[in-house]
Amino acid sequence: MLNKISYQTPSADELLEQFHLSRKYSTDLIMNLSAEDCQAQSMEDASPAKWHLAHVTWFYEVMVLKPFEENFSYWNPQFAILFNSYYNGVGDKHPRSKRGLLTRPSLAEVLEWRKNIEDRVTKLLKVNSSVELLCLIQLGINHEQQHQELLLTDIHHLFSNNSLYPAYFVQSKKISCVEKPFQWLEGINGLVEIGHDGNSFHFDNEGPKHAALNQKYLIGNRLVSNSEWLQFIEDGGYQNFKWWLDAGWAWLQTEKMTTPLYWNKEEKNQLLRFSLNGNTPLDLHAPVSNISYFEADAFTRWASLNLADFAGARLPTEFEWEAFAKSSPESVDDLFGKVWQWTSSNYNPYPGYQAWGGIAGEYNGKFMVNQMVLRGSSAYTPEGHSRVTYRNFFPTHARWQLTGLRLAKDGV
Ligand SMILES: [Fe+2]
Repeated sequence: MLNKISYQTPSADELLEQFHLSRKYSTDLIMNLSAEDCQAQSMEDASPAKWHLAHVTWFYEVMVLKPFEENFSYWNPQFAILFNSYYNGVGDKHPRSKRGLLTRPSLAEVLEWRKNIEDRVTKLLKVNSSVELLCLIQLGINHEQQHQELLLTDIHHLFSNNSLYPAYFVQSKKISCVEKPFQWLEGINGLVEIGHDGNSFHFDNEGPKHAALNQKYLIGNRLVSNSEWLQFIEDGGYQNFKWWLDAGWAWLQTEKMTTPLYWNKEEKNQLLRFSLNGNTPLDLHAPVSNISYFEADAFTRWASLNLADFAGARLPTEFEWEAFAKSSPESVDDLFGKVWQWTSSNYNPYPGYQAWGGIAGEYNGKFMVNQMVLRGSSAYTPEGHSRVTYRNFFPTHARWQLTGLRLAKDGV
């Protein structure tokens, strides 16, 4: 039986407002970018800003208009191939590594196409407010929000490859984070309820809601900071195999990194970090960011034996993280909006999981192998897109997202 996309959506009017806000936010994100900035692709994992703007529009054209609009026709049928990301059910795809070579259509045409699709979705919503359509549009909004975050992480990566180290923000923005004294807090143990209750919007991978068993554990009151990470570096953490998983050590030998991504030094040996504010002195009190799972895991093993505060530390499981986040004290203010937090949980289906039916079935389920779960959200996550049950996932070597860590340890 097909698992239909179904949750309680806002009214058609409210959804329309959210739709327009999310569409506007995407184009706001490129206000400080030139057409050349929007064109380039810095690596296979990252996509050009123009591609993101086009792909989220493709999503509405193929998933929403095609099945629901009377007398549907494509803006340009060739775009169905160019801007398909990974949906085999839709058909052919332009190769991912060659998205930066798409000099046609121009940015101007992509923006024109965006406007056309927006007008048609708006018109459609005025004559059809079926549950199925509303659910798909809400999925479209959330999909676009995911790509808004990717657009920023990809621009960050692109600009880091420019020796001018350009700043994206016209006015500097800071991930504010005063490093407070570290403390272990009691986790929520025993049988805990995990996953989304299924009523409001959620991705299929967040459900079904189910019980999980947490042993006694403690969890950090704050994220791991740059200053703590610096101690790992200074103690030769990146040169000592004993802290690393075998696959992580092999990765390190190939990639030869010695710091988190975006750390660099100026002539006077001052440590800098490149961010969307440009290249600025490393803020030791900010949470460490842009580390892979391999690095998070190695740090944890080192810190467990070398930093008194962190004795016995390990990464939390995603169930420990979620149970804690659902009832955490107000003083813990960095669960969301700073950096995604690696967990020790493999990205697996929950008991009873069923992928959505139809084309949307390819959204999450087919990626459930060789990836680790991250919880929380980051400074690049759009407002309103964070949830306590949200499961982000990346392979163990990925580090171009704003990824950091919070520690846990076994309780007694
Ligand atoms: Fe997508």
